[in-house]
Amino acid sequence: MKIGIIGAGNIGGNLTRRLTALGHDVSVANSRGPETLSALVEETGATAVTAAEAARGAQVVVVTVPLKAVPGLPAGLIDGAAEGVAVIDTGNYYPQQRDGRIAAIEDGTPESRWTEEQIGHPVIKAFNGTYAQDILSNGLPKGSPGRQALPVAGDDAATKQVVRDLIDELGFDTVDAGDLDDSWRQQPGTPVYGHQGDAEAIVKALAEASPERTAEWRA
Ligand SMILES: NC(=O)c1ccc[n+]([C@@H]2O[C@H](COP(=O)([O-])OP(=O)(O)OC[C@H]3O[C@@H](n4cnc5c(N)ncnc54)[C@H](OP(=O)(O)O)[C@@H]3O)[C@@H](O)[C@H]2O)c1
Repeated sequence: MKIGIIGAGNIGGNLTRRLTALGHDVSVANSRGPETLSALVEETGATAVTAAEAARGAQVVVVTVPLKAVPGLPAGLIDGAAEGVAVIDTGNYYPQQRDGRIAAIEDGTPESRWTEEQIGHPVIKAFNGTYAQDILSNGLPKGSPGRQALPVAGDDAATKQVVRDLIDELGFDTVDAGDLDDSWRQQPGTPVYGHQGDAEAIVKALAEASPERTAEWRA
């Protein structure tokens, strides 16, 4: 598949490593420009591009930048992607450590709903509670006992399935965590956030989530 990754940090870098190893055609972008990604390109065979170019022709786009950087992404970020593109949002709102105050999220808008409004395209929320190192180290063949499972939330059944299939290829089970309006269940501070359990444990953790945003995760 042709995959565009916007953000080449902990998550974007490791997705680039694994997805190229699986044979996907990966374009990857950061904020400083393609020329600063030569080490990752050399290591993985990915193509370094600008953020504005990353979605071009892509069947899957991953937006994996700090939340505070999302409003500054190029306008029409997803224009030029393949029809039916699945856009994955890995983001988390870290008001105290990184992102500052985002009023709509403080007022209860799910983080990924806010992100899709910013980029002007529906998103599927995945990987947000997965340690970057797990993407490199924890994948197992389908059917392995205890295989780690990732919650996946989003409104569109077809693109959600594309994302679930890709995560399976990466070596993880998935759990359907509902629509994007349900995706608060996997935000920072919830039981499932950072959980490395199997599908059964992830279903249980999602069910135990409370919609209240605790002080630690408020501005
Ligand atoms: N780290 C984790 O284990 C983890 C786990 C799950 C979810 N997340 C979430 O996933 C998101 C990314 O996390 P991360 O840890 O991978 O971040 P990170 O290591 O800080 O990397 C962020 C990347 O985004 C790029 N970037 C920033 N602004 C950009 C812009 N305007 N255009 C293009 N690229 C831009 C940065 O490029 P430059 O370096 O050139 O500035 C960098 O490559 C965050 O929302 C985070 O909360 C992280």
